[in-house]
Amino acid sequence: MTHPLLAAIEQRNSVNHFDAQHQLDDASIEALIGWAGRAPSAFNLQNWRFVAVRSAAGKQRLRELAWNQPKVSEAAVTFIVCGVLPCAESLGERLSPAVASGLMPSEMALSWQSSAARMYAEVPHSRRDEAVRSATFAASNLMLAGQALGLAASPMSGFDIAGVSRAFALGDEEIPVMLVTLGRAQANNWPQKPRRPVEEILELA
Ligand SMILES: Cc1cc2nc3c(=O)[nH]c(=O)nc-3n(C[C@H](O)[C@H](O)[C@H](O)COP(=O)(O)O)c2cc1C
Repeated sequence: MTHPLLAAIEQRNSVNHFDAQHQLDDASIEALIGWAGRAPSAFNLQNWRFVAVRSAAGKQRLRELAWNQPKVSEAAVTFIVCGVLPCAESLGERLSPAVASGLMPSEMALSWQSSAARMYAEVPHSRRDEAVRSATFAASNLMLAGQALGLAASPMSGFDIAGVSRAFALGDEEIPVMLVTLGRAQANNWPQKPRRPVEEILELA
């Protein structure tokens, strides 16, 4: 029998047509973000933030900034998944629950902090790379969690980054990495599209 996680990966599709009457309550949105926040991130920085756009006016504004793609307003919620440029200073606070619970020795937290400081200082684009990586993992969790709750999703990068940042008052350190629409799929969506064969994309080194 296929494991449920593998079945979910196999069945996932990027949905275009949503039931525009369907809405998600705030408790469901909070639960979904709880799952998204379980994604891994470098040093457990959790450098992400999510704007759940679910009002008619907010979705219409976002749709205009996303090349007028209908699903942005037809889905129950469109999330702006933001990656936050990480800084080593905030790491102490992020790691403190792991230290306080006895999971992580305090010296380890300090050593992670100095590694992060060195890494971000030495490689100028590393903070941006890290923000995009973290937000992408979180977006993936969000879509899979939605699927587990019977919802469908589509990730989207077709939007005006500067326009979305301005319209939704994102912070200077926040990058809108992806939009994720979530809602109830209509019956007329395509299934997952065919994929390239493994031998074409795998190198056994
Ligand atoms: C980074 C990224 C950006 C995407 N941007 C858009 C988009 O702006 N609009 C859209 O309709 N689909 C978008 N998609 C969905 C892709 O078109 C879709 O995943 C691909 O065609 C494969 O479809 P499937 O996942 O249903 O097999 C995006 C997917 C990714 C991963």
